Order: sequence, then C-alpha cells, then structure tokens
Amino acid sequence: MSQAQAVTQSSADVLAEKIRSRTARVGVVGLGYVGLPLAVEFAKAGFHVTGIDVVEGRTARVNAGDSYVADIRSSDLAPLVKSGKLRATTDFSVVKELDTINICVPTPLRKTKDPDMSFIVSSCQEIAQHFHSGMLVILESTTYPGTTDEVVLPMLEQSDLKVGRDFFLCFSPERVDPGNPKFQTANIPKVVGGTTAACTEMGRLFYAQALEKVVPVSSTRVAEMVKLLENTFRMINIGLVNEIAMMCDRIGINVWEVIEAAATKPFGFMPFYPGPGLGGHCIPIDPFYLSWKTKQAGIEARFIELAGYINGQMPHFVVDKVQHALNDASKPVKGSHIHVLGVAYKKNIDDVRESPALDIMLLLKQRGARITYSDPHVPSLKLDGLAMDSSAVETAAAADCVVIVTDHTAFDYGAVAKSAKLIVDTRNALKGVAAPNIVRL
Ligand SMILES: NC(=O)c1ccc[n+]([C@@H]2O[C@H](COP(=O)([O-])OP(=O)(O)OC[C@H]3O[C@@H](n4cnc5c(N)ncnc54)[C@H](O)[C@@H]3O)[C@@H](O)[C@H]2O)c1
Repeated sequence: MSQAQAVTQSSADVLAEKIRSRTARVGVVGLGYVGLPLAVEFAKAGFHVTGIDVVEGRTARVNAGDSYVADIRSSDLAPLVKSGKLRATTDFSVVKELDTINICVPTPLRKTKDPDMSFIVSSCQEIAQHFHSGMLVILESTTYPGTTDEVVLPMLEQSDLKVGRDFFLCFSPERVDPGNPKFQTANIPKVVGGTTAACTEMGRLFYAQALEKVVPVSSTRVAEMVKLLENTFRMINIGLVNEIAMMCDRIGINVWEVIEAAATKPFGFMPFYPGPGLGGHCIPIDPFYLSWKTKQAGIEARFIELAGYINGQMPHFVVDKVQHALNDASKPVKGSHIHVLGVAYKKNIDDVRESPALDIMLLLKQRGARITYSDPHVPSLKLDGLAMDSSAVETAAAADCVVIVTDHTAFDYGAVAKSAKLIVDTRNALKGVAAPNIVRL
C-alpha cells in the first residue's frame, strides 16, 4: 500500500469511527429555520454540537436555551444546552475543534434575480481559515447545480488538502417545512451527494446517526438539482392553478369546488391550490437559481419564467377583487378601512419573508385605503418603512372589507363571517359558508 493510500484510509477511517461513536464534534453554520433544528437533532442524537452564527443575539438566545424558531420548543432546546450538548458562538475559530460542518446560511436572489452567493462565500472564507484535515463539510443552503464543487471546493482545497482523501465535501438539500406538524428534520428523508464516492459515503454515515432515512446520490450536482426540481415542480403547479383560478373567476366557476372534485381521482392528479401569491424563502426564489444557471448553458427556463409571472400577478388580482367588491358595495377603495387577516406567507408560521400579504397591503395603501391587520404569529411588521402592530381580530367587524390572506388555524372564521361587512377570501378559509358578503378567489 502506498503512503497516500495509507493516509486516505486513515483520514476516512478516523472520521467514520468518530461519527459512528458519536464523538465527532459537529458544527452548524447559520442558526435559522434550517440550522437550529438540525443542530438540535444532532445534539439529541448524542453529539456535541456547536452552532455558529454572525448574529450575536441569536447565539446568545441559543446559549440561554431560548428558541426563536417556531418548530423548536425552548423546553427541548434548554436541556441540550444545559447538558453541554449544544452551544453557540459567533467565533469561527471553533472550526479548529470541529470534525463536521453543515452550512445553512441564506441564499437570496439579488434584485436582478441573480443568485446571491455572498453568505456562502463569506462563511466558507471564515471556515477556510481554520479548516483542517479529517473534516466533513456539507452545504445545505439551496443553490444552483455546481455550487459545491465550483465555489466551495476551491476555497477549502487551497490549503493543500485533497477532497475525498484528506477531507470530505457533500451537498445535501434541506427540505424542512416550517409549521408542518407531521414532517420535521428527523423524519424527512435526507438526500446527500458528495464530490467523490468517499464523500457521499461519509455524508450518508453522518446523517444516518440522527435522521430516519438517508438517500445517497451520485454527485453534489444531482443533490443540488433534486432540491431545484422539487421546488420548481411546486412553483409551476401553483402557477398553473393560479391561472386556472383566474380563468374560473372570469367564467364564473368556483375553482375550489373544481379542485376538490378533481382530487378524488386516485391516480394522475395531485391537488395544488390557488392563493394570493407566493411567499417564503424557497418557492418564489429557488427556481430562479436554476433558470440563472441554465441560461448560461443556452436554455431559457420558460415554464419558470411564466409561472413566476403568473404567481407575481396574484397580489394584483386580489387587490382588483377587493376594489370590485367595495365598488359593488358602493364604496371606493380610497378612504376605506381594509383589515387583512394573516400576514405570514403561509398558515401557522411567523415568517413574513416575501409574503404576498405585504404586497397586497402596500398596493391597497397606494390606492388610498387605510390598512390594519391581525396575525397571532406576527405581532408587528414594517410596511413601506412604517411599523405596524397586529390588531385584535375584532377589528375585522369595523372594517369596510376583510381580506383573508393567510388561513391560520387560530382564527375563528365563523365569527369573522358573521361580524364582517365584506370579506375577500383568498384561501377558501370560509369553505361551505355561503353569504352574499363573501367574495372568493
Ligand atoms: N426556511 C425554509 O423553510 C427552508 C427550507 C428548505 C431550504 N431552505 C434553505 O436553507 C438555507 C437557510 O435558510 P433559513 O430559512 O434557515 O435562513 P435563516 O435566515 O432563517 O437563517 C440563516 C442564518 O444564517 C446566519 N448567517 C448569515 N450569514 C452567515 C455567515 N456568514 N456565517 C454564519 N451565519 C450566517 C443568519 O444570521 C441566520 O441566523 C437557505 O438556502 C434556504 O433557501 C430553507
């Protein structure tokens, strides 16, 4: 056996043994909706986990056992911190002591719809300063195919360490669905692909310690593409059903009833639902990572562009519906009081990133309406640079029109239906309630 092979076996074997015995020191970079639940799962599995974040307020709260992520209860976090299994820091020099790192930093779009790689690049620059042999690095941030091997690998290999021999690099798409009571980090199958076969195997072994099912794939590019297929599939089907909703509206058919009946087909149909527009960190953004990449290869992502356009029209469609509903009640939008129920981008969560509610409120405000809102998950927000606080749901009764934008379970829809003068329901939250004051999408 050559000396190089001996080193190969040694680095891989030592790390694999640390992972199997759960003595590997695990690091998670970026403690948000994705990173904090992941850190908690590995700490629960018995590893010593260190979370690294650039926001001191976040690391301080983790160290105080105080969760700021809705899916993680403080009562689950605090014992892990107390027992020393989980700690958080802003100091990247801890990388020296770590065996594994999962990178879970944001990947937004620039205004031009180009990928913003700055968070991945800056975290990898920090990691590279303290990087050492025998480490496993897994990128989890959603990104375009090629990022792991083209952007991350050169930053880590520059220190003379060879991937697949001295260290191991993978991509694993994060599929967490905040607010989903059934599927969470531990029981969502985890796809992982490495730069080399040895990397994939190390990634598989790592996740198998804490998560229920691991799905290895042949490369980082396949793993990166898996996530983009999943989210593009969703975005395009939502675009399709939004277009169908606008068609049904024009020809006077209840789209919700159509979907409900179509969904009784036991094969070949999967229901998607229309709504006020796309929100969140993933569905409105991720497909544009793919279209940006394929444009460079000379392929225009036409489905993505079209669905993006239709979904982007939905807040305008809702605002027009509100305007027509008010006009039918002989009221102009200008000067009317409009109360929005739910501002998070989807039900039962507190996230307003990219939320269509913000667009709808702004458009209505620009047309001269006075806006209030209720959301038990979002106590305050900024609209057009101005701070707003959530009002009591009872405010709905005083409004000229109530717009149901997010169908949180906490709202008493029956009470709203009874007390409101006029309701525009963009989520079919008032399913089965027939009244002349209810206008549906
Ligand atoms: N939120 C979701 O539902 C979801 C689902 C699947 C995939 N994703 C993807 O996962 C990634 C993370 O998303 P998220 O929702 O957890 O984001 P988030 O904004 O909730 O959390 C990201 C964290 O990273 C920290 N951070 C930023 N720059 C950093 C740096 N240089 N070093 C260390 N920490 C840094 C931020 O302070 C923040 O705490 C994104 O690529 C996103 O597209 C998110």
